[in-house]
Amino acid sequence: MQTYANPCRSVLYIPGSKPRALEKAQGLAVDAIIFDLEDAVSPDEKVSARRLLADTLRHAEYGPRRRIVRINGFDTEWGVDDLTALAAAAPDAILLPKVNSADDIARLAQMLDGTPQAKDTTIWAMMETPRGILNAAEIAAAPRMEGFVLGTNDLAKDLRSTGRAAMLTSLQLCLLAARAEGLICVDGVYNAFKDEDGLRRECAEGRDMGFDGKTLIHPAQIAIANEVFGPSETELELARRQIAAFEKAQAAGQGVAVLDGKIVENLHVASAQRILAQAEAIARLEG
Ligand code: COA
Ligand code: MG
Repeated sequence: MQTYANPCRSVLYIPGSKPRALEKAQGLAVDAIIFDLEDAVSPDEKVSARRLLADTLRHAEYGPRRRIVRINGFDTEWGVDDLTALAAAAPDAILLPKVNSADDIARLAQMLDGTPQAKDTTIWAMMETPRGILNAAEIAAAPRMEGFVLGTNDLAKDLRSTGRAAMLTSLQLCLLAARAEGLICVDGVYNAFKDEDGLRRECAEGRDMGFDGKTLIHPAQIAIANEVFGPSETELELARRQIAAFEKAQAAGQGVAVLDGKIVENLHVASAQRILAQAEAIARLEG
């Protein structure tokens, strides 16, 4: 299970080709950054972006922000060279697009095994193809796996679907697989980056499903994701009261407590402790 050593409420995509955005991100209040070499970078900029990003990761200071690099797939002419150049810059994670099977991850893991600088680099998978979604369980269990990112735009294209409702089965299959293996699981992007109400609604929906956070495309989306995916004061207060009520019941020789007319069992205490631990991790990150 995720210990919240590092929250992932807000995960911002940054095109690896844009020096201004790369620099700006050093001061943004995001939990994680996806430095993108794939779809945010045009074919004629692929090679220069790779060089710029490798250089940036070696020299720029991103503080506690998790540094995730999305390389191009190995079925493209850029994938292998991306990995060679970027693994040597020791990112926190490599994000592989359009993962279809555990074999895709095993291949990447083997390449990382051969790169001493990438000893601690984990693997994240873009879950965005029908085959990948159907193989979510085996992908989650593959070596070095740490996180799933939902690629809802690609998935909608392949499913020929429109709207969130059509996405739910895929989202839930990924959540099930991620939780079964203790991975982080981050929801897809909200394309209309100027629509704050819509973003807030979709963040809340993702949070209620169980996602750790949301992938973002614009800095204006960060504050809302951090707020919605972080515990509220109300949740924290309830968590503290649940723990206190349960301890009191235990001291009186009972296995179950009642708080505000609702039952509190040890499983509720475990959830309450997780919420408090998440709040502590966020305070550490922001402090
Ligand atoms: N990361 C970091 N900084 C970003 C950013 C991002 N994703 N998107 C915009 N910014 C910065 C801009 O550099 C600009 O900085 P400045 O004013 O200090 O120079 C500021 O935020 C405002 O940008 P704005 O003018 O509102 O946006 P834009 O019109 O330049 O760009 C997008 C809009 C959507 C094209 C851009 O946000 C973007 O490229 N997002 C990422 C897309 C992506 O990675 N897609 C792949 C995954 S789906
Ligand atoms: Mg995609």
